[in-house]
Amino acid sequence: MRLSCWPSLSSSRMAVKLNLLLPLFCCVALLVTPNDGSLLRSSRNRTMSAKPFKVLITHPEVPQSGIDLLKENCELVQVQSLPPSRAELLQKIKGVDGVFWGGHDALNAEVLDAAGPQLKSISTMSAGIDYVDLEEVKRRKIPLGHTPTVLNTAVADLAVGLLIAAGRRFHEARRKIDTDNWENYHLNWLLGQDVRDSVIGFFGFGGIGQAIAKRLSGFDIDQVLYTTRRRIDRETEKELNAKKVEFDELLAKSDFVVIASPLTPATQGIFNATAFNKMKKTAVLVNIARGKIVNQDDLYEALKSNRIFAAGLDVVDPEPLPPNNKLLALDNVVILPHIGSATTRTRSDMATIAAHNVLRGLAGERMLSPAY
Ligand SMILES: *[C@@H]1O[C@H](CO)[C@@H](O)[C@H](O)[C@H]1NC(C)=O
Ligand SMILES: *[C@@H]1O[C@H](CO)[C@@H](O)[C@H](O)[C@H]1NC(C)=O
Repeated sequence: MRLSCWPSLSSSRMAVKLNLLLPLFCCVALLVTPNDGSLLRSSRNRTMSAKPFKVLITHPEVPQSGIDLLKENCELVQVQSLPPSRAELLQKIKGVDGVFWGGHDALNAEVLDAAGPQLKSISTMSAGIDYVDLEEVKRRKIPLGHTPTVLNTAVADLAVGLLIAAGRRFHEARRKIDTDNWENYHLNWLLGQDVRDSVIGFFGFGGIGQAIAKRLSGFDIDQVLYTTRRRIDRETEKELNAKKVEFDELLAKSDFVVIASPLTPATQGIFNATAFNKMKKTAVLVNIARGKIVNQDDLYEALKSNRIFAAGLDVVDPEPLPPNNKLLALDNVVILPHIGSATTRTRSDMATIAAHNVLRGLAGERMLSPAY
């Protein structure tokens, strides 16, 4: 529990005051802090000795924070193979009450059938749930949780890194060193794009997009544009100097286009040749959402012909990307292997929230972050 917002304990009077306030604070914290297991204590207490719930953890590398929470009142089974084998999963899931879904494998009817009708709680450890057959889960009325928002800042940090790395040609520049072509006698060597005074366009502007915009506001940008179905609240718009525009206007006006939307039938492949042809020649595309939102063949052509300046991608299609993929041969694309949320603290927090989701589902309570 963090008390950083409280006055320091410099005087005993202050300490007394804090003592009085602390119980109140704790009550509030119970309601808002997913890291505190106390909310679940009543249900846990009831079940502690018997451990009547059996929970499957579908990945051998789920952070300990999640496992520790679950094992207090659940009997745990865990997939041991790495990468997790579907066969092992389908065998071990039989008869479990809850599932901690620790990977990006398809969560579909096959899995739910293998589990059986007693299954009453599932949580993924991810924000995006495009690998879940949501209709199937809903049809069976099984509560499903996921872990959005907790990874926003880690992904946003990475997006800013990609935006600068692509705009300033990090990958190409590194290759110059590797190939003994350090030609700094040129005056116009490896010139890139400024973030200063640029227009940043967001395709999708939820928590992650807004966290990126917030970070970039320190880079003296000109304006934020965004394309979403619904307008965000006016106060946030004002705070981020953001304006909702149609997709075509976003493409035409943005110096950096950041994809931060979910993958849906409506967004799949929407960044295709038609879209790239509407972008500035100096534009940089950043994708930290899902690879399939971009038509990758069209992106390859747009980068190769310098129709757009560069791209920074944390997500591609397929993943993993084969090492002989043609995109990797280009100078003007920075590619990362989907490491947006890959920080120690973020992954641990994700596991904690996912575990709470599972426990709450088992207790018949509302999950911390229900997916539907
Ligand atoms: C929880 O369970 C323990 C032992 O099973 C018991 O001693 C204790 O009184 C219980 N607490 C509550 C709040 O029910
Ligand atoms: C690109 O996608 C848009 C919208 O889905 C579509 O109208 C257009 O025909 C597509 N262009 C190409 C070249 O596939």
